[in-house]
Amino acid sequence: MMRDEKGMMTPELRAEIDAILTASGNDGSKLVGILLDIQDIIPMHYIPEEVAYYLAEKLNVKVSNVYDVISFYASLYDRPRGQYPIQMCESIVCGVNDNGFVFATLQEMLGIGLNEATADGKYYLECVPCFGACDVAPAVRVNGKVYGHLNSREKIEAMLAELV
Ligand code: FES
Repeated sequence: MMRDEKGMMTPELRAEIDAILTASGNDGSKLVGILLDIQDIIPMHYIPEEVAYYLAEKLNVKVSNVYDVISFYASLYDRPRGQYPIQMCESIVCGVNDNGFVFATLQEMLGIGLNEATADGKYYLECVPCFGACDVAPAVRVNGKVYGHLNSREKIEAMLAELV
């Protein structure tokens, strides 16, 4: 499906956003879920300013309310991340299973630091709290999919190879 690479409002994206709003009943009290759903369909996985203003208008709320929600929820972002935001678990079980190896290896392989994107916008690295995949620690999550047991370079390479 055609979408502007910067996440701008193409007619197709606007139609998808309208479908999400309709499914929510255009209910401003469901703003968190609406924003999460929209963030999923934006290519760089964030809420562009143009989209925030559009939602405020459609839901009849202040744009400051939209930004209050985005800034309050750690899972919402107002800046471009990447096509594949790699969420590295920083919680205790992954910690005792050497998530430091995962952090260091991904940073070395991708040539980026924490909260940075590769130059082509493909990968973005971030740390997040436990997302419930402790049984396969150390784990990362990318666009909702969990990759576990990442305790070797080969497994990390295989994970990256899937993100195409
Ligand atoms: S501690 Fe890492 S997924 Fe739970």
